[in-house]
Amino acid sequence: MTTANKAIGIFDSGMGGLTVMRALTKHLPQENFLYLGDTARLPYGTKSADTVRRYAIQCGEALIARDVKMVVIACNTASVALAAVQQALAPVPVIGVIEPGAEAAIMAAGDGPIAVIATEGTVKGGAYRTAIRAQGANMPILQQPCPLFVPMAEEGLIDGPIAEAIARRYLEPVLASVPAPSCLLLGCTHYPALKDVIARVTGPGIKLVDSAETTANAVASLLGEMNLQTPPKGTGTRRFLATDAPDRFARVGEIFLGEPIDPGSVELVDLQ
Ligand code: DGL
Repeated sequence: MTTANKAIGIFDSGMGGLTVMRALTKHLPQENFLYLGDTARLPYGTKSADTVRRYAIQCGEALIARDVKMVVIACNTASVALAAVQQALAPVPVIGVIEPGAEAAIMAAGDGPIAVIATEGTVKGGAYRTAIRAQGANMPILQQPCPLFVPMAEEGLIDGPIAEAIARRYLEPVLASVPAPSCLLLGCTHYPALKDVIARVTGPGIKLVDSAETTANAVASLLGEMNLQTPPKGTGTRRFLATDAPDRFARVGEIFLGEPIDPGSVELVDLQ
């Protein structure tokens, strides 16, 4: 198989990265995709930076072992370890979601404050603050961890009074800050599943952004630069790996991917 015809590998701690895959398959339908959800070890967001780095390298290596041409870290928490994963997987190119997410937030915010909601790990590491400043923007940045959002999304608890009450608890302090944020960055790939309830709490004045679209653009540009695009004929293959409960992955993953997942396309793998 020529390198261009190989699959693009994507990984996340669970199903959240399917929100990034959704944008990738829309922008690059002809590409073949292999998605890995490390469902056995989710969540990553409450684990130490060292553990997340080790897990991220193992996920990347599992994809390389299946001969992918590029790796997309579709997880903000694991993207903090981007440099280590790039070094471990070289020469295969690796893209994370933090820089594309920062770019999307800067574009949406104008000069107004950016509020970043993310896992504890991403907030603690300050990766978004670093990336936003590295892109030359100096608006105020607020950060709020929302640890329950990941298990809620994985459970399919994405709307209704309980989801709304939890969203209010996390978001009201951010919304009360002065000046109010002009954009809310969903700095975790699970959070787009809760977009409706989050939007109800923020109201219409605050733009919600995530890294899915800008990551898809970054992947498309890199494929072009490296001459790695699959020739545009038909729709590529979509295959999935999960480290636990592949049936559940197929059933619940649909919420994130926005289309049905054939249970036969999800393989159980062991990364240890
Ligand atoms: N989806 C991952 C992210 O974007 C984190 C979920 C988790 O805590 O495992 O940060």
